[in-house]
Amino acid sequence: MKFSFSFSNCFSPSSPPEVDRSSSSGQETGGNTSEKFQVFSYKELKIATDSFHPSNKIGEGGFGSVYKGQLRDGTTVAVKVLSVEIESMRGEREFVSELSALTDIKHENLVTLQGCCVEGASRFLVYDYMENNSLAQTLLGAKQNRMEFGWEARRGISLGVGRGLAYLHEEVQPHIIHRDIKAANILLDQNLAPKISDFGLSKLFVDSRSHISTRVAGTLGYLAPEYALSGRLTRKSDVYSFGVLLLEIISGHSVVEYDLEHGEHYLVEKAWEMYTDNKLLQLVDPTLKDFPEEEAIQFLKVGLLCVQEISGLRPRMSAAVKMLTNEINVNDVHISQPGLLSDLTAVKIGHRRSFPTISSKASTSTSTQSANTNPSLTGSSGPLNMDAVLFDVKSESHR
Ligand SMILES: Nc1ncnc2c1ncn2[C@@H]1O[C@H](COP(=O)(O)OP(=O)(O)OP(=O)(O)O)[C@@H](O)[C@H]1O
Ligand SMILES: [Mg+2]
Repeated sequence: MKFSFSFSNCFSPSSPPEVDRSSSSGQETGGNTSEKFQVFSYKELKIATDSFHPSNKIGEGGFGSVYKGQLRDGTTVAVKVLSVEIESMRGEREFVSELSALTDIKHENLVTLQGCCVEGASRFLVYDYMENNSLAQTLLGAKQNRMEFGWEARRGISLGVGRGLAYLHEEVQPHIIHRDIKAANILLDQNLAPKISDFGLSKLFVDSRSHISTRVAGTLGYLAPEYALSGRLTRKSDVYSFGVLLLEIISGHSVVEYDLEHGEHYLVEKAWEMYTDNKLLQLVDPTLKDFPEEEAIQFLKVGLLCVQEISGLRPRMSAAVKMLTNEINVNDVHISQPGLLSDLTAVKIGHRRSFPTISSKASTSTSTQSANTNPSLTGSSGPLNMDAVLFDVKSESHR
């Protein structure tokens, strides 16, 4: 389901702060630039994860496997093993420096990066461990993994993700475009507070061509059409993905579902049909019992507004949040045709190409959603890749 990655700069051009790397265990770095960013030794992470024992594996994504671990001081962490060819990664010093800079980006709705480890060609990222896994697993996953989410929880998660994204887009300087907002990248802590994960990781990879060029990266279904079709990346691409996520949270359906009887269902398409038939309420997850109907419809409308086909018609993230909190009345805004996934699948996405830079495990995530079972989307022998498209990040405007 996931397009292959080639990482480059998803930030506006910036100079990372210099960070001295120490090989000693648990060494904090960064002085004023980073609070408590640690460079762990491989031995420490090995002990923490019981030698990366399979029973500690909590997930697998496009970068590699993620393990639960316990540090010597008792802190539980998630260790992401980057299964990426060394040539595509930044050098050791730069790698640590970029990560250290990311540690400065703090918000209650962003996962905290604790540190990293560099051991020869191997790289590891150490994050706060999130007890309730990802939305992909707990809300949209297989029935046995699903949790009950009431209206309050869904409202809190939607708002939290919106605020985290608005922070990345509008408060962090230079701003960050996430590029891969999806249910698997929304982690939930013990109180079901949402934490956006994997922001800024593209900074860790070398782009041999230019620091302003990049390639299409992201997950099919969440990709804004203009980004998937032409590679034009703007903050509005993230807004599109957020809209899809919002529709998923309120409906309890994955962006693409497939069953033998009905074939593929595209959530965005379904939401648009129901909106035009004035039946949006029927899209709300039937497992929700007592919920404020008007507010649920309002959230679905904001979702639809975020997935407008024309990127300029999508709100900025801060405006989307205000629509969720009623500071802006979504009913005052005209909703027109959304960008549809079915249009996207018409694109020639069959050009499969194994990026040398990243392991091709992208489609084998344990948090795989039902959409991944769609043979027309996954191809016959591996993850779907899209031909790379170059574009200029500098031309990004926030319309
Ligand atoms: N900090 C964390 N705490 C708890 N679980 C985590 C944490 N980070 C990742 N996970 C789990 O590991 C899974 C894999 O994460 P990973 O980021 O490697 O892949 P992904 O999100 O599925 O896809 P992508 O590679 O596009 O991000 C997540 O879906 C989640 O279930
Ligand atoms: Mg992830």
